[in-house]
This record gives sequence, structure tokens and C-alpha cells, in this order.
Amino acid sequence: MIFPVGMRNLRLRRIRSVLAVLPCLSVALFCIGLAQMSSADDIQAGRLKAEVACQTCHGIDGLATIAMVPNLSGQREDYTIIQLEAYRSGKRQHSQMSIIAQSLSDEDIRNLAAWYAAIEIAVTVPDE
Ligand code: HEC
Repeated sequence: MIFPVGMRNLRLRRIRSVLAVLPCLSVALFCIGLAQMSSADDIQAGRLKAEVACQTCHGIDGLATIAMVPNLSGQREDYTIIQLEAYRSGKRQHSQMSIIAQSLSDEDIRNLAAWYAAIEIAVTVPDE
């Protein structure tokens, strides 16, 4: 397209200012990513909490000890967080989990999710 010289300069300046913001934006996104990654301390705190509040049913290794209790080991961290928040808010209901989740703080939920996500699992698909 052909623009009068003034317009072209204006457009170039706009493009340049947008480009100048990009590095800042990517640094900011990187930092947000780092902040969301759980630390070894979170994982350890999650383990301690799991020992007292969860292991009876879910096992400390996240392998359920009782029928009808789901395994938690290797579960995606954000999935576990969403489920625990849902039990706590009443969005998801279960006679036991709804009561247990009431006593969990936001930090407990993050730590517990970090603990169970940190457990490595191996999967073997059966032959046909
Ligand atoms: C008394 C046994 C018991 C204890 C203790 C217990 N849970 Fe559960 N948990 C269950 C049962 C049963 C379910 C399945 C509930 C349902 O069907 O919604 C469940 C479901 C869950 C789920 C949802 C899993 C999924 O796949 O959607 C999560 C997450 C969870 N428990 C985390 C925890 C954590 C963390 C603790 C410790 C703070 C804990 N539970 C303590 C029995 C227990």
C-alpha cells in the first residue's frame, strides 16, 4: 500500500513501539511461569500435610488404599487444585471429601497438588 510519508512514519513508529514491548512481555510471562512452578519446599510441605490428612485413603504415594477412592499420584497439579477447590466451595460434592476440603487453606491445596504431581508414575499398556 502507498501512504503519504507522514503516515508511513507514524505506522513505522507504532510498529516499533509494539516491537519494543515484546521483550518486556516475554520476560513478564517467563516470571509468571516461574512463580507458578512449585518448589521443593511446596512439595515437602504437601507431603507432610498428606501424611496427616490424606494418606489413610489415598496413600502417601497417591495409590488409593480403599476401594472407590481415586489414585492421585502423578495427577496434573492444576487438576488436583481445581478439584480440591470445588469440594471446598461446594461445586463438587462428596460426603467425605467435602468435609476434608473445608479444612484446607489455599496454600495446603497448592502444596498437596504439588506433592501428588511430583510422584512419578510409569504406565504399561496391556498387549491386545
Ligand atoms: C476418608 C477417606 C479420604 C480421605 C482422608 C481423603 N480423601 Fe480424597 N477422596 C476420597 C474419595 C472417596 C474420593 C472420591 C470422591 C468423589 O467421588 O467425588 C476422593 C476424591 C479426591 C479427589 C478427586 C480426585 C479425582 O480424580 O477427581 C482429590 C483431588 C482428593 N480426593 C484429594 C484428597 C486430599 C488432598 C486429601 C487430604 C487432604 C484427601 N483427598 C483425603 C476419600 C478420601
